[in-house]
Amino acid sequence: MPGPDGRRPLVPVDFDRPSIARVFDALMGGQDNYEADRVVLRQVLELAPDARVMAKEVRHWLVRTVRYLTDREGIDQFLDLGSGFPTSDNTHQVAQRYNPEARVVYVDHDPVVQAHGRAMLAANDFAHMAAADLTKPDEVIEELARTHRLEFERPVGLILCAIVHHIQDLDEARKIVRAYVDALAPGSFVALLHQHNPADGTEAADIATSLEKRFNGTGLDTLHRTREEIESFFEGVDLMEPGLTYPHLWWPDGPRFTPPSPVNFTSLGGVARKP
Ligand SMILES: C[S@@+](CC[C@H](N)C(=O)[O-])C[C@H]1O[C@@H](n2cnc3c(N)ncnc32)[C@H](O)[C@@H]1O
Repeated sequence: MPGPDGRRPLVPVDFDRPSIARVFDALMGGQDNYEADRVVLRQVLELAPDARVMAKEVRHWLVRTVRYLTDREGIDQFLDLGSGFPTSDNTHQVAQRYNPEARVVYVDHDPVVQAHGRAMLAANDFAHMAAADLTKPDEVIEELARTHRLEFERPVGLILCAIVHHIQDLDEARKIVRAYVDALAPGSFVALLHQHNPADGTEAADIATSLEKRFNGTGLDTLHRTREEIESFFEGVDLMEPGLTYPHLWWPDGPRFTPPSPVNFTSLGGVARKP
């Protein structure tokens, strides 16, 4: 199926095969998923019964980081890579709550995500859905600069939420993140959240190991990297307080009303400033 501009889609649309975007949507309780995606969701829930808690925590982390960057640091343009289906509290909604003219560009290669994103953003002059492969940073940046979607000579908030763990090769993943960081002006920020294996004999470590093993080679691979590996994505930028933490511990909004689940310890996130 060609895309809306007549070009071939970056990834094929096949509702009989699971897509990572639609599986994540199912996990988030969204409507944009099919039986093939829900089969995968059930497999995830067998291994990690609280996986929905994790998805919720990841979204809450994103909301707090975007609020922090917009309201505290004055960032008024965002590049959200591998943005997924619009659900609730998307980057532009949070940013524009604090600055109605905050610009947001979403990038995703999934044509169904793009269609939903474009529909949601049709009436929003400051937010845009770009169809692109985020593993090609030079192309993505060149296109966004050429079309004046973002001004790379001014600070940008780069969002890499639950996406770098889909890039299998660590060196390749580092190179890709670094290429985006290099293109950013001083005073820009990187918000990165990544699946993590604490490898400490806890239930969280068992969940991380079994999820990674179960989906290895399926096209839905999610790497649970070590803290040191995740820290290495922040090369060239300065991690802000409170550093690289479990999502629920990154400037929490207030007291917890429920104890954290083991899945809370299967990802790490941090926000860093480019000097
Ligand atoms: C796990 S979802 C994360 C969604 C979102 N960042 C969030 O935290 O809710 C990963 C998303 O990245 C997209 N994606 C994966 N690889 C990509 C690539 N190479 N280029 C662009 N998008 C990609 C998928 O289509 C999917 O929507």
